Formats: sequence, C-alpha cells, structure tokens
Amino acid sequence: MSAAGRAILVTGCAGFIGSRVCERLLAAGHAVVGVDDLNDAYDVSLKRWRLAQLEQHPGFRFHHADITQRGELEPIFGLAAGGVPLTAVINLAARAGVRYSVENPWIYFETNVTGTLNLLELCRHYGIGKFVQASSSSVYGAGEELPYREDMRTDWPLSPYAASKKAAESLCHSYHHLYGLDVTIFRYFTVYGPAGRPDMLPFRLVQWISEGRPVCVYGDGSQSRDFTYVDDIARGTIAGLQPLGYEIINLGSDRPVTVMELLTMVEQELGLRAAIRYEPSHPADVAATWADIGAARRLLDWQPTTSIREGVANTVAWYVRERDWACKIPAG
Ligand code: NAD
Ligand code: UGA
Repeated sequence: MSAAGRAILVTGCAGFIGSRVCERLLAAGHAVVGVDDLNDAYDVSLKRWRLAQLEQHPGFRFHHADITQRGELEPIFGLAAGGVPLTAVINLAARAGVRYSVENPWIYFETNVTGTLNLLELCRHYGIGKFVQASSSSVYGAGEELPYREDMRTDWPLSPYAASKKAAESLCHSYHHLYGLDVTIFRYFTVYGPAGRPDMLPFRLVQWISEGRPVCVYGDGSQSRDFTYVDDIARGTIAGLQPLGYEIINLGSDRPVTVMELLTMVEQELGLRAAIRYEPSHPADVAATWADIGAARRLLDWQPTTSIREGVANTVAWYVRERDWACKIPAG
C-alpha cells in the first residue's frame, strides 16, 4: 500500500497493541495520527512511556482525545481532511479488562460501543473507506467446541466486556451494509509481550515473580489461553488494511497453554520460583481459548511467527531493562 500523502488514524495509540501497530506503520513509512485519552484504567506512566517512543518519529502526530466525545473527534477528522487525508481508521481504543467489566459495565459500553459508533459515523461523514476494528476472543463465550472458528455462535458472552465487543462488531456490520464501509474485524486472542498491560497475567507473572511477591492464580490454573505475541498481532492488524469487504478474522497463536504452564515458563526464564496464592475462579473468565487461524492464513497470508518461549523471553527482557520504574506499576 502506498503511504504517499496519506495518513492512518489509530485510536488507543498509547495502549499495548496500539503502540506496536503505530510503530510498525511508522517504520513502513506511513504517516500516523494517534488518538488516546490516556485514562487511568491502569498506570498512565506505562502509556506515557509507549507514547514517548512514538513521538520520536516525525511521521507521528498525537491527539489527546476521548472517542466517546464526538466533539473531540470531529476536529481531528476535519483537520486531516484539510491537510493529510486519512485513508483508514484502526480502532484499538477500548476498555479491555474482562474481569473489571463486571464492576463497571457502563464505562465499557460507553467506550467500546458509543466510541466505535462515533468513529464509524465520522468515517461515513468524511468518506473514509476502511475501518479496522479490534474485537476479542471473549465473544465466543464458553464456546461450543475448540478451536474457535469465526462462523461459530457468539450469542452468549460471559462478561459485559465481551458483550460490548460483540455489540461493536454488530455496529460495524451495519455501517458496512448501509454505507459500503470496508470493515475488517479482528478477534485477538490474549495478547502478550513487552510493555504489556499490567492487569493481564503475563505482565503480572513477570513483575510479581521478579519482585518476590505472591502470584494470584484464579481457580487451579488449568484454564488455558491461546496467548499471542504482540508483534504477530500488530503485523496481522496492518495486513487487515487491504480491501476485504466485510470480514471477521481470528488472530491467535494456535498453540494454547495453561496458566500454570505459562507460570512455569516465566519462572524458568527468570530463574526464580513463584509463591502462589490461589483465588476462586472468576465467573467472567472462560475456561479455554484456541483460535482457528485458517481465515487469517487464507485472506491475509498471515501466521504467527513468535513461539511462546521466545515471546516470554522478550517480555522478561523488557521488564529487566525497564525494571527501575516497571517494578512500581500497580498490577493488581
Ligand atoms: P490498552 O488498554 O493497553 O489500550 C487501549 C488504549 O485505548 C489505552 O491506551 C487507553 O488509554 C485508550 N482508550 C481507552 N478509552 C479511550 C477513549 N474513550 N478515548 C480514547 N482512547 C481511549 O489495551 P490493549 O490490550 O492494547 O487492547 C487494544 C484493543 O485490543 C482493545 O480494543 C481490546 O479490547 C482489544 N483486545 C485486546 C486483547 C489483549 O489481549 N490485549 C485481546 C483481544 C482484544
Ligand atoms: C485478555 C485481555 O485482557 C482482553 O482484553 C482480551 O479481549 C482477551 O484476552 C481475549 O483474548 O479476547 P484474559 O484472557 O482474561 O483477557 O487475559 P488475562 O487477564 O491475561 O488472563 C488470562 C488467564 O489468567 C485467565 O484465565 C485468568 O483467570 C488468569 N489470571 C489472570 C490469573 O490466574 N491471575 C491473574 O492475576 C490474572
């Protein structure tokens, strides 16, 4: 895809996945307009650290804005229309924690549904033809059978977060149907890697074991996730910018591991043993995820290239490098 004189708008650019997507776009020569409200869903110092890396690129322009506020987004789209036009929107801004959505479901619907609606409307208004939407493996709920295929039922989400992601998918379909917007929806499977989210298991394991704090394991740790490395996710997301009509595509590693297996890998990488504190299983958690990635292979020629061992090593190496401040990030 040619980048000349055109920009891509990425929401959630200071987030875990968004910042990696922006980095890869910038490295490929694209101009990137980044939007983030830098909210305190988790420690803002981590978001600012990611943003600082992006702001070193001349092709990056940041707007501190909230996607739930149309009035804040309108000038960003307007400005782009009068200057470097936008070719596409990649919507990665969201409230993303599964378990916290049970405590405050409203913020999830405002951000993940109303926020998505605002962006779809602005794409329509400004004639932007391509929309890439981050969805989630959590829409499969308790699942019929594994691995999850995109045409399986997603009518029984187990958390308000999953329900909000399903609602956003539905809105995307409406805008594709009504206005011909080209939409690619990605269902990501538990993403991990350097500078990951501190509410998620991989970051917690690395920080807690490194700092000699007890590790909280929900249930008996036999639940499994198709943990997927962030660079594989970012590469797939960018591949989704090509015209595809309307597609829903799983991005997963196709190699699920249990919570206890991941814990052991982090222990081995750090050369330390974890003290474990068991907590009851959380009712919003699914027991297992596993992606069928046939559609990603077929439509995007995509496949994951980072093994879980390599990904864990990179995640630990980042933490060791940034430990002076990363050890202070509250992780739950
Ligand atoms: P993240 O929380 O690190 O990133 C989201 C970013 O969006 C944050 O920087 C946040 O400040 C920003 N944001 C939130 N609300 C906003 C608002 N109203 N206006 C502007 N910015 C706002 O999360 P992430 O893990 O990078 O997730 C990115 C996307 O991928 C989300 O849509 C998430 O639901 C989805 N996803 C993530 C995973 C995963 O395992 N990390 C898996 C499946 C789907
Ligand atoms: C993750 C992301 O947080 C969601 O944004 C994303 O949508 C979802 O993946 C997805 O795949 O769609 P989750 O799988 O809950 O959600 O990710 P983690 O928070 O890393 O939890 C993984 C597993 O570890 C869960 O079974 C959880 O119960 C367990 N866990 C988590 C613990 O045992 N202890 C913890 O402290 C945290």
